[in-house]
Parts: sequence; C-alpha cells; structure tokens
Amino acid sequence: MRLILLGPPGVGKGTQAERIVNAFSVPHISTGDILREAVKNETPTGLKAKAYMDKGELVPDMIVIDLVKERLDDGDCTDGFLLDGFPRTVAQAEALDSVLSEMNSPIDSVIQLYADEDEIVKRLTGRRVCSICGKAYHVMFLKPKIENICDDDKGALIQRKDDNEETVRNRLNVYETKTKELIDYYTDKDVLISVDAGGAIDSISSEIINKLKSLDAVQ
Ligand code: AP5
Repeated sequence: MRLILLGPPGVGKGTQAERIVNAFSVPHISTGDILREAVKNETPTGLKAKAYMDKGELVPDMIVIDLVKERLDDGDCTDGFLLDGFPRTVAQAEALDSVLSEMNSPIDSVIQLYADEDEIVKRLTGRRVCSICGKAYHVMFLKPKIENICDDDKGALIQRKDDNEETVRNRLNVYETKTKELIDYYTDKDVLISVDAGGAIDSISSEIINKLKSLDAVQ
C-alpha cells in the first residue's frame, strides 16, 4: 500500500505510523526524522534545514522533495510505503504525483488525522523522545517503563527543541496556512480517509487499520 499520513503537528502521526507499518509491512518515511538525522550529522542539508526547523517553519520545498525522491528510489519502497509529514505543501504534493506517475504507482490512501488544538499543545509540550532512536513518549499519556529511559534501547529521554509552546503555536499556524489545503487536494482525488485522533492511541490505530484493510479488500 502507498499511504500518506496527513495532520497537524502533534496529532499522533509518528505514533500511529509505527503501528500502521507493522500491520502492513511497509517502510515508514518520515521527513521530520530524515531531516533531524541530517541536522544531527551536520550534513549540508542538515545545516540548511536547522534554522527553519528550530523556528517551526517549513524547510524549502526543493530540499525536502529531493530527499523524498531519493528515498522512494530505495528498493524497499517498490511494494509500498507510508509517508509521514510529507507532502506539506501543494508544490510537494504535485512533485510527489509526478514521481509516482512515472512509476505508475499512485497513492492508495491519505489518512487525515485531526484533534483539537488544546489537546495537540498538551501532547507536544509533554512529548519526550529517545536521544538514541527517536521513539516518542509522553510525560502523562505514554510513559516509559523506567522514568526518562527509552524502553527499547535505554537511551535518555529528551525534549525536542521545537516542542516549546511558542514554536508549537507557530507550527500549528504553518499547518493552517500551508498544509491544510492538502485536505481538499486529496479529497478531490477521492483518496482521503478522515480519522478523529482525539481518543486513545489503540482505538485510533484499530480504526485506521480496519479502514485500510477494508479498502485493500475492495481493490
Ligand atoms: P515533523 O517531525 O514531521 O513534525 P510534525 O509534523 O510537527 O509532527 P510531530 O512529529 O511533532 O508530531 P506527530 O503528529 O508525529 O505526533 P506524535 O505521534 O509524536 O517535522 C518537524 C520539522 O521538520 C517541521 O516543523 C519542518 O521544519 C521540518 N519538516 C518535516 N517535514 C517537512 C516537509 N515535508 N516540508 C518542509 N519541512 C518539513 O505524538 C505527539 C505526542 O503525543 C507524543 O508524546 C505521543 O506519545 C502523544 N500521543 C500521540 N497520540 C496520542 C493520543 N491518541 N493520546 C494521547 N497522547 C498521544
């Protein structure tokens, strides 16, 4: 399946992505994770992207489009993938359409997650991530077994630089002005599935996976 997860920052895209890729055995492609890795390794792309990311602004389209094109060329994407956090602008969506049409592999579904803004701010300001693998936890909603230590690799949990309230509000504003219009873009293509992401993590996963399975059965 070729899938996209669309939704505001903090709505739970990364959390749900982990469960969806396990259910459908496709690679998880998160442009946020790819960019954070580039920043950490101080690559030329990382050095360009850092200032935008710290302020909660979008990294320029050309940089992100090139990263995704390169990643989609990898052999593990031939049978499907889950894009998380890409596309975020109409220009990115159009670039993706043209790459996929060359491969004769259109998007099957765009899963749009939504939740109210106060809930999102609570989720992001309370998020802690593993300093080694990047896995997300939450100080109230998703605690590790040992306080401040990642369950998987025992890395220390830290707060992302862009998870302070001021930057979170800017990220939400950027979503409203630049990304939200993709809901109409994909509604017009008849591939949008909307899911209320305001509830419990497991029930949201079940709803998404059931909807995708019934769609897969029809195709
Ligand atoms: P990116 O990493 O993509 O960040 P984002 O879209 O802002 O999304 P987040 O990772 O913050 O949130 P999420 O929806 O994955 O939520 P999560 O599951 O962690 O992008 C970062 C930056 O990179 C951007 O600002 C931009 O600068 C740049 N960038 C990336 N892609 C780009 C692109 N295509 N173009 C240009 N620039 C780009 O959950 C959040 C918290 O809530 C966690 O603590 C989790 O445990 C908790 N939680 C999740 N679900 C629930 C639930 N149901 N109930 C309670 N708690 C929950």
